[in-house]
Amino acid sequence: MAVDLLLGLQWGDEGKGKIVDVLTKNYDIIARFQGGPNAGHTLEFDGIKHVLHTIPSGIFHKNAVNIVGNGVVIDPVIFKKELDALGKFNIDFHSKLLISRKAHLILPTHRLLDAASEAAKGKAKIGSTLKGIGPTYMDKTGRNGMRIGDLELDGWKEKYRALADKHEAMIAFYNVDIEYDLKELETEFLNAVETLRKLQFIDSEDYLFQAQSKGKKILAEGAQGSLLDIDFGTYPYVTSSNTTAAGACTGLGVAPNKIGDVKGIFKAYTTRVGSGPFPTELFDQDGETMGRVGNEFGATTGRPRRCGWLDLVALKYAVRINGVTELMMMKADVLSGFKKIKVCTAYNYKGKEIQHLPYNIETENVTPIYSEMEGWEKDLTQMEKADQLPKTLHAYIEFLEQELQVPIKIVSVGPDRTQTIHR
Ligand code: GDP
Ligand code: IMO
Ligand code: MG
Repeated sequence: MAVDLLLGLQWGDEGKGKIVDVLTKNYDIIARFQGGPNAGHTLEFDGIKHVLHTIPSGIFHKNAVNIVGNGVVIDPVIFKKELDALGKFNIDFHSKLLISRKAHLILPTHRLLDAASEAAKGKAKIGSTLKGIGPTYMDKTGRNGMRIGDLELDGWKEKYRALADKHEAMIAFYNVDIEYDLKELETEFLNAVETLRKLQFIDSEDYLFQAQSKGKKILAEGAQGSLLDIDFGTYPYVTSSNTTAAGACTGLGVAPNKIGDVKGIFKAYTTRVGSGPFPTELFDQDGETMGRVGNEFGATTGRPRRCGWLDLVALKYAVRINGVTELMMMKADVLSGFKKIKVCTAYNYKGKEIQHLPYNIETENVTPIYSEMEGWEKDLTQMEKADQLPKTLHAYIEFLEQELQVPIKIVSVGPDRTQTIHR
């Protein structure tokens, strides 16, 4: 049985949490494969809004097992908070939430290192969520990291101490002004580790292999988005993992020839939170309207998201890198009321028209070239079927399908689970 993927195609926050929740009824297993609590995946149903950071977005469904894969980095402190917030939902975490022994741990000092690194960068800062993601993946690839499985072995506290001491020396080296009380942070960390240890730690690659051979249906849930990929994103303004399809293979131990559908998710416009290039960014009333109507504030940090028109050059690139087989367009409802909808179909790059993402995508080098389409007036949020959607929205969808050569299977018209139109 193949493993399906669900991935963000822009700079994150496309609505992955909502769609995974919608699709979970069709799957036996939902598995997160990369990233950590830098993610904020929002789900809404029955009037409740919930934000998940590390726990996969299938957790509210009794039919599915949720796995935190080896490619994920876990902060026990944030994980415990997530578990606590889910307390009232009567979820059997012991059987429904399994953690890979090979997933790496975010230590309190990783978070401090993140803050020190950003402070030292000054204006050139990445705009990190400050969750310790970069430093933790650095320790992973530097072969110094601590893994979930270490918590089952003797001597893990000594290993922790040695790594934390090294981090403290590194923080001092940055020579920046950050205040912290490591004793307090460690108490919180060790307490959260005890909570984590009540869950099942598994060899997730083996678990998933067995599940596949038994015909179980598996959906891999991505975090962040393709343009934040460590290799293919707008480096260095990216996150520290492979957010693209290949990341699901390494982040779960699934072979490339076992990947089935690749579901790519994008907003009907574009947003970005944090620093870095964003060619179609708007600084006018239209951008302000998208942010306000779309309630564009980071689910993890609360920072306002930068907004702009859809960038087809970037989206085509993401579709290609991931081998997307079907698309989902989110937040179409936010564009209701715009007289004209613009779509960037090419870039003017240093005076030349190009249709690919250049190495040097800094705003001063790239000016978007737009096609203009008719907007729609109608409120979409109560619509339930594709044939209710306005004609001009159909034209927008068909134009995108033509350009991307991939069908748009879902149009989302609101944050709630039910506000989802299948085509
Ligand atoms: P994720 O990180 O990809 O899971 O996305 P986030 O949860 O960070 O951000 C998406 C935001 O848009 C959340 O606040 C969702 O509740 C909301 N959302 C998702 N789909 C829609 C939609 O179709 N319309 C509107 N208006 N909001 C949506
Ligand atoms: P979800 O899964 C949007 C951004 C940060 C910053 C850069 C690096 O909710 O879509 P990091 O903390 O990884 O060192 O930050 O990446 N970023 C996200 N932006 N959605 C996310 O996750 C993000 N995770 C990280 O804002 O620019
Ligand atoms: Mg998010």
